[in-house]
Amino acid sequence: MNQIKIFAPATVANVSCGFDVLGFALDTIGDEMCIRKSDKKGITITKIEGCNLPLEAKKNVVGAAGYALLDALDSDAGFEIEICKNIKPGSGIGSSAASAAGSVFAINKLLGAPFNKTELVRFAMEGERLACGAAIADNVSAALFGGFTLVRSYNPLDIVSLPTPSELYATVIHPQIEVKTAASRKLLKATVPLKDAIKQWGNVGGLISGLYTEDYDLISRSLHDYIAEPVRAVLIPGFDKVKRESLSAGALGCGISGSGPSIFALSKGLERAQNVANAIQKVYQNIGIDFYVYVSKINTQGVKIIS
Ligand code: HSE
Repeated sequence: MNQIKIFAPATVANVSCGFDVLGFALDTIGDEMCIRKSDKKGITITKIEGCNLPLEAKKNVVGAAGYALLDALDSDAGFEIEICKNIKPGSGIGSSAASAAGSVFAINKLLGAPFNKTELVRFAMEGERLACGAAIADNVSAALFGGFTLVRSYNPLDIVSLPTPSELYATVIHPQIEVKTAASRKLLKATVPLKDAIKQWGNVGGLISGLYTEDYDLISRSLHDYIAEPVRAVLIPGFDKVKRESLSAGALGCGISGSGPSIFALSKGLERAQNVANAIQKVYQNIGIDFYVYVSKINTQGVKIIS
């Protein structure tokens, strides 16, 4: 195998209660990348469609993640990469994570799969370090493993793949404004009051239990965030209204996707997820900011080979 084309999914990080530790992958939105072996050592990005990002590999998350993998092998291999970006940077649905995860997945495959998925997460985190200054694992884990993922520990890195209830659907609205992850992280306080931590870890446990038992009411009761959402909501015009409307339309829960500005909701069943999409669309039509809305099944496969 000398060349592959892959789909790298968009992802929702945090999932309300799991700041920096929970994430899930989407099915209907993601980037495509073509990776082929080359005689020229290292990584050469030959084309980027859809976004204005650096072609210079070491300045692009694709290169940062890919070189982390190649350096771990002390490899002389060479790769040419074409990127078709459908996920805009600064969207909150894992744009840099899709690029980093896609890069390490494809390079690993073309090298005969020397690394397992958790090791690939570790390399992809170097892409996140370049993109926002912090080597976060929540988006890249969801992109590589698919489904819901938990970063049980960063050091040592321990990623747990969680089950996906069969009737769970996501609705995501992506307002066409950019929120930089680094700026959104700076808003957060360095310490959490114990009373908030108690509520938050109760919800993390509840959400994970709900995913295992397909208990949609428990999932709903657990989708609350006492740490990031209260300080970040100001970055997203209409956030409170979108949340209210999506819950009235029957969503199990609604929150900020990653560091924003995208907002996600989870619903039981496609019809309800579409009703939620209609409801939040109306809110944004009145605000007057362009937006995209996606309704998606949870992608349980993660990065996949298209051809
Ligand atoms: N967990 C990260 C954050 C995700 O919320 O900052 C970044 O998309």
